[in-house]
Parts: sequence; C-alpha cells; structure tokens
Amino acid sequence: MQICKNHSLRAHNTFGLDATCACFAEYDSLDELRQLVAAYQNNELPTPLFHIGAGSNLLFAGHFPGTLLHSGIRGIEVVEETPDWVVLRVGAAENFDDLVAETLRRGFYGLENLSLIPGEVGAAAVQNIGAYGSEIEQYIDSVEGYQVNGKTYRYTHEQCGYGYRTSVFKTLLKERFFVTHVYLRLSRHFTPNLSYKALKTLVLEAGLDETSITADDIRCLVIHTRKEKLPMPETTGSAGSFFMNPVVKPEVFEALQQTYPDIPHYSVARGEKIPAAWLIEQTGWRGKSKGRAGVWPKQALVLVNLGGATGKEIIALSQAIQHDVYEKFGIMLQPEVNIL
Ligand code: EPU
Repeated sequence: MQICKNHSLRAHNTFGLDATCACFAEYDSLDELRQLVAAYQNNELPTPLFHIGAGSNLLFAGHFPGTLLHSGIRGIEVVEETPDWVVLRVGAAENFDDLVAETLRRGFYGLENLSLIPGEVGAAAVQNIGAYGSEIEQYIDSVEGYQVNGKTYRYTHEQCGYGYRTSVFKTLLKERFFVTHVYLRLSRHFTPNLSYKALKTLVLEAGLDETSITADDIRCLVIHTRKEKLPMPETTGSAGSFFMNPVVKPEVFEALQQTYPDIPHYSVARGEKIPAAWLIEQTGWRGKSKGRAGVWPKQALVLVNLGGATGKEIIALSQAIQHDVYEKFGIMLQPEVNIL
C-alpha cells in the first residue's frame, strides 16, 4: 500500500494537467482497500473520497482537497469454461487494451472492436466504455468489489444497470461501491461485429469481408483508425470524447431535420441519437481554441490540452461549446468526462 500527501496528478490524467490532490492512496489487495476505507471513516484521511482508474476520462478542475483511491489489483484468470465460452476474472487495475490483446492471443473473442481504448478494466466497467458498435457491458458477466459499509458485493450484469456510458456504479452507488474485479464472458468462436458503418467501410476498403475477416484484422483496423482520428495520450493531452452523443425525442429531431436536412442520426430506444461531433462542427469550433485548450481538428468531440492548459481552461472551452450548440440547436451537450 502507498499513501502520498500533496501528490501530483500529472501521471494520473491523460489531459496532462498539473493538478494535485491532498492524498493519493494505492492498494494492492481487498484487505488493503478495507484498511484504507476504515482509515477514511476514522477521519484519518482527508475528505471527500473518490476512486480513480488511469485518469483517461477525468478532468481535474484544480486541486482535489480529498483522498483519491487507486487500485493496484491485477490478474487475469479463467474461472469457468466450456467448449463455447470462458469467464475471466480480471483485476480492476489491468490495462484494458493489454487485456484485449491477451484475450485475442488466447482465442477468446468479443473485445476486438474495443481495441486501443485507454484506461483500466475497473473504470471500463463503471462507465461502460464503447466504440465501433460494441460496449463492454455486452461481455460483463458480473462485477465484484467492496462497499464503504464494509461489505463485499458481486453484482450480476442486470444489477449493474448499464446504459450508454453509464452504470449504477457511476450514478446511484457512486463513491460507495468500489470495483476490485470484473468477470467477462467471452466466446471461443469468433463472429465479426461490423454493425458500425464506418468500421464496415474500413473492412471493405481493406479488401476483407465478413467471411474471411479475423479478430486480429478487426483489432488492426480499429487501432489504425483510432490512431488516425484521435490524439494519442502520449503526445497530446485529452480524455477522448468530451461530451456524450445526445438523444432527442423524435418530434425534436423532425423539427431539426426541417432546418438541417443532412443532420446525421441513429435511431435508439429513446429517440434519435445525433453525433455531438457534428453539432460542434456546425458551430465552427472544430480545430479552434480558447486559451491553451483546443478542439481536435480530426474529431470535433475531442478537447485537447494544447500545452500547459489548466483544468479551468478546458472547462471554459467546453462551456463555450455547450453555449454555442445550445444557441444553434437547442440541445445542451452533457460531458462524458468526470469533472473533479
Ligand atoms: N462527425 C462530425 N465531425 C467530426 C467527427 C465526426 O461531423 O469531427 C460526425 C460524422 O457524421 C460521423 C459521426 O459524427 O459519422 C460519428 O463519428 P465517430 O464515428 O468518430 O464517433 P462519435 O460518435 O463521435 C463515438 C464514441 C467514441 C468512439 C467512437 C467510435 C461517444 C461519446 N464517443 O464517437 O468514444 O471511439 O464513437 O465508435 O459515444 C470516448 O468515449 O472517449 C470515445 C472516443
């Protein structure tokens, strides 16, 4: 276990912000997590308490006055298997993309469309990461962890309350339930998921088709396109998509379509999903900046640190974008990143 006071968060956020926290505590086992939560409840650690992953979906607005918890629990083990599928129990601190690579190496399929998403497995299960037609929840069998009331839990997929980039751990149980392990059910038989139009186009352009493609081909294509479109955390600070794609009621969408006949959209259960990147682009923000915060030229949904930006500068840019999108379309974009 490691407890550091007045700790720099530079290495703990992919925006590359120079923020600090009053206390940073990393544990390597359930027992250590128990001790930390007990110490917090005995007022031995500063408040509030917040659990982070790799910081790839976080924005620190400034100094965090409380305690940040970080898991060091690793490990990938097969806990159930049949000739058709396996269930893996994965430690929350495992790097998500390393897990994707490892599962493909072992002939366990499902995660290939989620290649190269930054972050750790625990956070992936909390925020239901998604890309190219897949969401992690499709593969989640259950989630195991520890509650601030001192009890352990194991939630079934249904109990996790998954939705678009959300779960009960991100909403109702936030700051009370911590994830130590994620159980993933993966198939031993590969079936390509080419439901995302842009991915299908890439497959066809590469001279592949649904019958000949392998999971490794999909991983390569996804990695290639992500590297082309998105800033890589090693060179440019960002947290991926800054906002969620809004879903509007059918009647609202129809009214917008009258004015903007080319508006892109996807039908979902609650209405029409409109790409936030398109809305932002229409307001002229793509490739523009405000202070040291910018809008990525190749993907308008991604806000970046142009060098030395503060959390407040990124927030100011995000608010200017929210304002302009609201003025033009009457839609209030909601952040996808967690702002602390
Ligand atoms: N578009 C624009 N301008 C742009 C970029 C995109 O108008 O600058 C429009 C195009 O119409 C395009 C559509 O937006 O067809 C969708 O773009 P894209 O396929 O890049 O996906 P997205 O909806 O912007 C979502 C996820 C990404 C994920 C991609 C690929 C959210 C908030 N974001 O972005 O996830 O990688 O799909 O599946 O749902 C993340 O969460 O951090 C993230 C990067």
